[in-house]
Amino acid sequence: MPLKEARVSVLDHGFLYGDGIYETMRVYEGVVFMIEEHIRRLEHSAFHIGLNLPKSPDEIKVSIYETLEANGLKDAYLRLTVSRGAGPIGLDPSLCPNPTYFILAEDLKPYPRRFYDEGISAVITKTRRNLKEAINPRIKSLNFLNNILAKIEAIKARADEALMLNHMGHLAEGTVSNIFFVKRENGHRSLCTPSLDCGILEGITRNIVIELARRNDMKLIEGEFTPEDLLSAEEVFLTSTIMEVMPVGKVDEVRYRVGEVTKLLGAEYGKEVAAYVSETKAAGPSIWGYE
Ligand code: PDD
Repeated sequence: MPLKEARVSVLDHGFLYGDGIYETMRVYEGVVFMIEEHIRRLEHSAFHIGLNLPKSPDEIKVSIYETLEANGLKDAYLRLTVSRGAGPIGLDPSLCPNPTYFILAEDLKPYPRRFYDEGISAVITKTRRNLKEAINPRIKSLNFLNNILAKIEAIKARADEALMLNHMGHLAEGTVSNIFFVKRENGHRSLCTPSLDCGILEGITRNIVIELARRNDMKLIEGEFTPEDLLSAEEVFLTSTIMEVMPVGKVDEVRYRVGEVTKLLGAEYGKEVAAYVSETKAAGPSIWGYE
């Protein structure tokens, strides 16, 4: 339906309490990249908040492709949201028997080329990432105030992204991205990224980049890192569905060049997307969930 006609009740618990989950997907040439992984993560998030998804994985897939087709979009941004639904005031999820399910699709507005050439700026914020025993960041929830508070700090500092530490002071993630950096020790280079135990979202792009690093025989360390590890790094980049591999040119007052590891993984990621798109197209509409 047209955006102007789309309505959600003021009693929707997604609106009242941030009670719900979502996925952001990127569409290349009419193909939803990694759709299965996004649906799997949506199911994971739903499970962890005790939400029964109103559709099966196949129905979700069909609804995503129908939305794309209805909008005639080829290179697009897709957001699938499922909230607890409308119900009386009160926290009890059983007050809301019908989850609200909607998909927003719009033309992709890619980040400017210069961001990829020069790298974006970031700051390490005072706002810490949610404790995983409180709201586990592995749940992709509508409850985004933690990230928004960090983003406000970044805006004040005129930086493009905010990087958060966890309660232990270890690097966690950006407000909408995962963190990678290249460290050199005793002449050996390793690619480092905070482990899932640090309390982060298991980024789909992060998983691909880890796989690409392995395939390219890079030494990869998933672990606990301090801000000093990041500030003494040779290269820094962020990953997300929308950013892909995004070089970082500056964290706080420290500058980095867009180095060869970042460039290589960025190029490899591009190849991965191209292969996925051509394989999906070759398999035809049945792989999209309908004939
Ligand atoms: N953000 N960490 C956080 C907190 C995120 O919100 C995201 C994604 C990521 C990267 O995950 P992935 O590679 O699966 O996109 C990490 C999306 C793009 C968003 O919020 O719109």
